Amino acid sequence: MASPRGEFSSRFGFIMAAAGSAVGLGNIWGFPTQAASNGGAAFLLVYLVLAFTLAYPALMAELIIGRHAHANAASALRLISPNSGLRRIGTTTGVIGFIVASFILSFYAIVAGWMLAHCAAAVAELFRFDGLATWLTEFSLARNLGFMLVFMALTVGIISEGVQQGIERWSSRLMPMLLASLILLVVYVFTLDGAVDGLRVYLLPDFERALTPDLIVKALGAAFFSLSLGVGTMLIYGSYISDRENLPVVGGLVTLVDIFIAVLAGFLVLPAMYVALHNGVEIFTATGELISEDTLIFNVLPRLFDTMGLAGVLVGFVFFFLMSIAALTSSISMLEVPVAYTIEEHGVDRKRAVVVIGILIALASTVILLNFELLFGLVIAATTRYSQPLLGFMFCLYAGWVWRRDQLLQELRKGNAMVEHSLFWKIWPGYVRVVCPAIILLIFAQSLLG
Ligand code: PFF
Repeated sequence: MASPRGEFSSRFGFIMAAAGSAVGLGNIWGFPTQAASNGGAAFLLVYLVLAFTLAYPALMAELIIGRHAHANAASALRLISPNSGLRRIGTTTGVIGFIVASFILSFYAIVAGWMLAHCAAAVAELFRFDGLATWLTEFSLARNLGFMLVFMALTVGIISEGVQQGIERWSSRLMPMLLASLILLVVYVFTLDGAVDGLRVYLLPDFERALTPDLIVKALGAAFFSLSLGVGTMLIYGSYISDRENLPVVGGLVTLVDIFIAVLAGFLVLPAMYVALHNGVEIFTATGELISEDTLIFNVLPRLFDTMGLAGVLVGFVFFFLMSIAALTSSISMLEVPVAYTIEEHGVDRKRAVVVIGILIALASTVILLNFELLFGLVIAATTRYSQPLLGFMFCLYAGWVWRRDQLLQELRKGNAMVEHSLFWKIWPGYVRVVCPAIILLIFAQSLLG
């Protein structure tokens, strides 16, 4: 079984790929805008706590199960199950995971298409094709469909090349570019008037806003979304890691990179909003709340770039280029989930699996675009707010209760012979068994009760 499967060629390659999956629109768009309107540093704190105490242990569950099984989530959960009932539940969890991953990609590709369109608009503006630039930035079915398809084609192109030549090669190229452009933008924004006000909002905590049950559920969803958990993405990436790697360390590095980029993006987006305010752009809603989400990215920031002349065109290009890269390294990890499943469970060849699944997902995106008001928000909430944490809950149960503890230890020993004496082994097994599932359920119960 091992020979036809791909494997990451190096630790760097794996970290770039897994961090590439984790770092996406969720970090650079979702996190800063949520922090902006939900108590600044207090939201940051809740997010950090959840990321380290819940998301990291859940990430480890996926990576360890994946590497042990060297297979997709459905067959991996089957492999570690001792009886047929648990095997069936494991298969079902894996299958639901790949369906959820596909639906996440179906809305993600739409948003990523907008990023590509804004990137192209900056180029059009530079060459004074003003009519084209306007069309590219306005919401229309033709633009949305066209750019969703371009983005899906890029995703399909990379995934059809396989693990090393596709995922690893492109993540290792794109992630350093992402980091460089993000740092460049942060430094530039800090030279502009008004940036410090944004920094203040970001760094001064408002605990009253951040500690509501609704917000904690949101932050939990955000943390799971941000680390690409629950749908089997990290499990499948884990299945491509070499046995020599020390999993708790590489998983920790991926978590740190993910959080670092989200926090860094906050240093870009919040100050940029206040620079916009300083330049006369409205950033508050009628009720006095900070504008957030799509209005921020697609209205406030482009209007800010407009006030900056030629520099603004360049900054706009770099910003949307950065968003497009972030989206692409994440979308490839989503597509790999159904693709790996189809290759391994049904013996289909990679290229064919990628094309067929890519077309099906593009069709789902088209249906969403044709019923945008009704479906867009619904698909996002159903997949990211509810399905991801609940599926993550299942992975924790399988790692904590179903899988035999001695086999689990044996898997961890491959990369670190002394692992049973580590802090990780002292805390994590009980933690993933009791604490993680309990907290996930508690947060859910609270959100359902009101
Ligand atoms: N982690 C990505 C982000 O923060 O944008 C989103 C994501 C990627 C979710 C892969 C789920 C997934 F399987």
